[in-house]
Amino acid sequence: MKNKLRSSRVVIIGTGAVGATTAYTLLLRERISELVLIDANKEKALGEALDMNHGLPFTGGVKLWAGDYSDCADADVIVIAAGASQRPGETRIDLLKRNAGIFDNIIQNIVKYNDHGIILVATNPVDILSYVTLKKSGFPSNRVIGSGTLLDSARFRYLIGQNKKINPRSIHAHIIGEHGDSELPLWSLANVAGIGLEFSEEDRKEIFNSTKNAAYEIINAKGATSYAIALALDRIIVSILQNEASVLNVSTLLTDYNGVSDVYLGVPSIVDRSGVREVLDLKLSNEELTQFHASANKLKSEIANLDL
Ligand code: LAC
Repeated sequence: MKNKLRSSRVVIIGTGAVGATTAYTLLLRERISELVLIDANKEKALGEALDMNHGLPFTGGVKLWAGDYSDCADADVIVIAAGASQRPGETRIDLLKRNAGIFDNIIQNIVKYNDHGIILVATNPVDILSYVTLKKSGFPSNRVIGSGTLLDSARFRYLIGQNKKINPRSIHAHIIGEHGDSELPLWSLANVAGIGLEFSEEDRKEIFNSTKNAAYEIINAKGATSYAIALALDRIIVSILQNEASVLNVSTLLTDYNGVSDVYLGVPSIVDRSGVREVLDLKLSNEELTQFHASANKLKSEIANLDL
């Protein structure tokens, strides 16, 4: 049929707090046609699929099931949300050994069935595991994306909005670098309607510390984060599938970017049907450049210890 919409399939590997909430978000937003849940714990994937399918009479659109890696064959986007999440007091880097260990099997299974899709990594430490996925999948870098600092930038925008009493959707501001403790704020670019925003030193400290430490605070309170990361992943998936070309601070492979190469970091990137189409060049101050290099070097030193 001429007006048949191109069907779109998203596969989510890992149905823990992030994977299941992302699935539910995609179901509610109805911007995709098929959603497949995969988990090493098949019962869990089945239970999540059953529970969401019972809601279809209220939502409609999405065809959803618990599947296996053969369902990746027709996947447009494959989300990796499997693995351990931070326990109270743990950093994201603390998860590296455990989570890198399960990526071998996950990526081998993906590439067995799919050589054309886009892999979206959410598992932490997301920048390093995106790099691992790139190396082990053989996919081109534009088709291996990490959730990056999109979530951190959203937190930053929310907190600036609270401070200025402006809707966060009207606040434009960037957190770049590691999705983690070495991330950095670009205060000079924070704006509303293109008008620069001023902050006292005290407000800057409070807003950035609350941004950077948000996950620790939420994990202490409820055990894991899920809603905002799920909305961030949904945002990336929709920008891909709708060929939006939106600018999103996803984690992508950098090559001679402000003097940084061969590492994944969150920077403003144009995201469309090809994945990361282009990375926007940022003019960083000397202080921002120093912090950006420190973030890159921290991740590169961890990558150097991996067997890639
Ligand atoms: C967080 C997790 C997704 O920042 O790293 O909530």
